[in-house]
Amino acid sequence: MNVHAPLSLSLLNAEKAAFAVDVAEALSQYPKKLSPKYFYDEAGSELFEQITKLPEYYPTRAELGILKSRSKDINAIIPKNAALVEFGAGATTKVRLLLDECEFGAYVPVDISGDFLQAQAAELRGDFPGLKVMPVNADFTAPFDLPADVRMMPKVGFFPGSTLGNFEPHEARAFLRSARVILGKDALLLIGIDLEKDEKLLYAAYNDAAGITGQFNKNVLVRINRELDGDFDLESFSHRAIYNKERHRIEMHLIANKAQTVNVLGRSYSFLTGESIHTESSYKYSLERFSALSLGSGWEPRASWTDAEEQFSLHALCVLDRKNSNS
Ligand code: AVJ
Repeated sequence: MNVHAPLSLSLLNAEKAAFAVDVAEALSQYPKKLSPKYFYDEAGSELFEQITKLPEYYPTRAELGILKSRSKDINAIIPKNAALVEFGAGATTKVRLLLDECEFGAYVPVDISGDFLQAQAAELRGDFPGLKVMPVNADFTAPFDLPADVRMMPKVGFFPGSTLGNFEPHEARAFLRSARVILGKDALLLIGIDLEKDEKLLYAAYNDAAGITGQFNKNVLVRINRELDGDFDLESFSHRAIYNKERHRIEMHLIANKAQTVNVLGRSYSFLTGESIHTESSYKYSLERFSALSLGSGWEPRASWTDAEEQFSLHALCVLDRKNSNS
């Protein structure tokens, strides 16, 4: 077995084949680098839910606090009977706060995981009988069509959780521009962004004492072993999260504890002692840097809120109207 052996993809479905190709590329490059989107199978999503409840992981609590304490302010700038379009659909805790407070005409969750999407949609229909719930099964980082029923409604995009932080700066700009096209010219975008802060707090949030973040990180190796016939020895890799101050980002890595060779779908990949797989970047913004990013991507800050400790921020952006601006 060697790295030049052809990948045997013929027996895999399309989703698995894409995973296989990405993993083969991730492990062949130097430094090795894998997309964080592969954390989230069923087990990974469950581990992430556990992370959101850890004492050290402040973002979820801080954002929920902002959504609760500012619900009246948010309601005041949201048009009546708008369609709420959520990019990605995880736990419905956050969106329920918005649906409770504001009078939306429709809720459009957009996600690649179809089964989960349908289950969440069914629950929301039960709890909000007057609301049209119209899930869209799509990858929200690429253009997609909104359901015909919401085309005439005002649009409010919702992108909570600082998920934007997973994107490289150029990808973040591309996402914001694409959201602008998808939502249309009168849209509003509500977006949650994690803020730069004391390094010790950041470090603790991604190196929790209970070790859940480490399990979450290693889950990608568990997936490769199960889905791509891999033979990663989980004990031979360690979770490491560091704050890269120059690039304003937390980096998660899996570090090889010893020199070893790993086989995945009939190809072999070698690791030196201490060699890393970079599995995630989580960018942190200052309020100024996020405003600049928005303005450069077709959005104008309308309002922004933080929690009392200024750990996390929620921004309401409206479409930048070039006719009425000097830029
Ligand atoms: C879901 C991308 C916002 O970056 O904080 C949590 C994922 N990774 N702990 C984050 C994550 C490690 C999370 N996001």
